[in-house]
Amino acid sequence: MKFKTIIEPFRIKMVEPIRQTTREERERLLAEAHYNLFLLKAEDVLIDLLTDSGTGAMSSGQWAGMMLGDESYAGAKSFYKFETAVRTITGLKHVIPTHQGRAAERILFGSVLKPGDIVPNNTHFDTTRANTEYRGATALDIPIPEAHDPAIILPFKGNIDLAALERTLVENPGNVPLAMITVTNNSGGGQPVSMANIRAASEICHRHNVPLFLDCCRFAENAWFIKTREEGYADKTPLEIAQEMFSYVDGATMSAKKDGMGNIGGFLALNDDAWAQECKNLLILTEGFPTYGGLAGYDLEALAVGLEEVLHEDYLQYRIRSVAYLGDILTSNGIPIVQPPGGHAIYIDAKGMLPHIPQSEYPAWALSLALYLEGGIRSVEIGSVMFGHQPDGSEKPAAMELVRLAFPRRVYTQSHVDYLAEVLLYVNSIKESIRGVRIVDAPPMLRHFSAKMALI
Ligand SMILES: Cc1ncc(COP(=O)(O)O)c(C=O)c1O
Repeated sequence: MKFKTIIEPFRIKMVEPIRQTTREERERLLAEAHYNLFLLKAEDVLIDLLTDSGTGAMSSGQWAGMMLGDESYAGAKSFYKFETAVRTITGLKHVIPTHQGRAAERILFGSVLKPGDIVPNNTHFDTTRANTEYRGATALDIPIPEAHDPAIILPFKGNIDLAALERTLVENPGNVPLAMITVTNNSGGGQPVSMANIRAASEICHRHNVPLFLDCCRFAENAWFIKTREEGYADKTPLEIAQEMFSYVDGATMSAKKDGMGNIGGFLALNDDAWAQECKNLLILTEGFPTYGGLAGYDLEALAVGLEEVLHEDYLQYRIRSVAYLGDILTSNGIPIVQPPGGHAIYIDAKGMLPHIPQSEYPAWALSLALYLEGGIRSVEIGSVMFGHQPDGSEKPAAMELVRLAFPRRVYTQSHVDYLAEVLLYVNSIKESIRGVRIVDAPPMLRHFSAKMALI
C-alpha cells in the first residue's frame, strides 16, 4: 500500500445524535443510578463503551437482507441462509439459532452438565460461568499463567494452559463432559488464542474422549490475530483461518451480537447427533422452533450477511487498529493497560493506576465512575464486583481489577477515540482524588448488572 493511514472502510449513511451533558448533571445522574453505570439511561452517555455486544452498526447489505426475512414458523428460507453461513465458517453439522449467546450456553449446559461436573476454559465469560454454576458444575479457569500479568506482552496471551488442561482431564475422569476455549478471551483482556494452542487442546481433549467447544463470539478478530501474528498464516484469508480453528472442535456457542455483526442473535453448533437432539428439545421448550430459535427471520438474514462481512480483511484491519490506536496513546502516556491491546477493547489496569484504592474498595468500579463523571464515557468494571462473589457466598478478590473500554463495531470514528484519550489522560492527572466504592445491595449472581453502590 502506498499510503499508511488505515481508514474506516465505510461511509456513513445514517447518523444518530449523541448528547453532551454537564459534569454537574452527571454527578446527579450517577447518584440517581446508585453509582452503577448499568443503571444509567443510554441517552445520558456521550460515548458508550459499556459493551461491543449488539451495539454495532449494521451495513446497508444487512438492512437490505432484513427485507428478505422469511417469517415462516418452520423451515423459513432465512434459516437456511443462516445455517449455510454458519456451516461455511464452522463446518459443524447441527446449527441451532438462539436469541443470544447465553441462551446457547444455557441450552448446551442444561442438556449435558450435571452437578459435580467440571468445565475447563481459558477464562469463562460471566454468563458462561453463571450458566455452568447454575447447573451445579464447576467453571474452571485455566489461562496460561502470563495471562494474569497485565504488563507482559505476548502474541497469544489468551491461550489455555495445556498442562493444566491435561491434568484436569487425568484427575477427573468422567466428570468433564466438555472443555471450552473462549476466542478471543474476553474476561482475560480480549487476548487471542493461537491456532497451535487450539490444535494442541483439541489433541489433549480427544485423547481423553472429551469434546472441545469454542466460545466463538469473536472468532473473526481471533482469526485476524492469527493471520498477523502466527507463523504460516500471513497468506491465508480470515475465512480459511476461521475454518481451520473450527476444524479442531466438536461444537461452538456464539453470541452473534459480536462477530455476527447483529444487534441480537446467537447460535449453538455441534457435531454430536444425540446432544444436538437434546439441545433442540430444550430449545423448543424455552426459545422456539429449531429453525428460528427465538429470532425473527429478518434477524437470521442480517446475521447471515454479517457473518460474511466480518471476515473482510479491510474491516478487520481497521477494527484491530482502532483499538490498538487508543492503547498506544495510553501506553505512551503511562496509563497501565493490559498488554498488548486486545481485539475488541482496551482494558485499563485499575490496580496499577489507582494503587491508593484497595481491592476491597473496588478500584476498577471507582475508575469507571470517574470516566463517566469527567467525560460522559461509559465503560465496564471487570474485577471484584463482577467476579468476587463465590458460589458458597464468600468473597474472593478477582485476579485483576480492569476497566474495559469495549468498542462497538463500525460506530465511532477516530475523533471519538481522540476525545476518549483526552478524557483518560485528564482522569489520570487527577487520579489521587478518586475514591473507592462499597456495595450497598446486590443479588447473589451476576451482581454487577444491578448492584446498588455508594462512594466511600
Ligand atoms: C466471551 C463471551 N461469551 C458469551 C457471551 C454471552 O453472550 P450474550 O451477551 O449474547 O448472551 C459474551 C457476551 O459478552 C462473551 O463476551
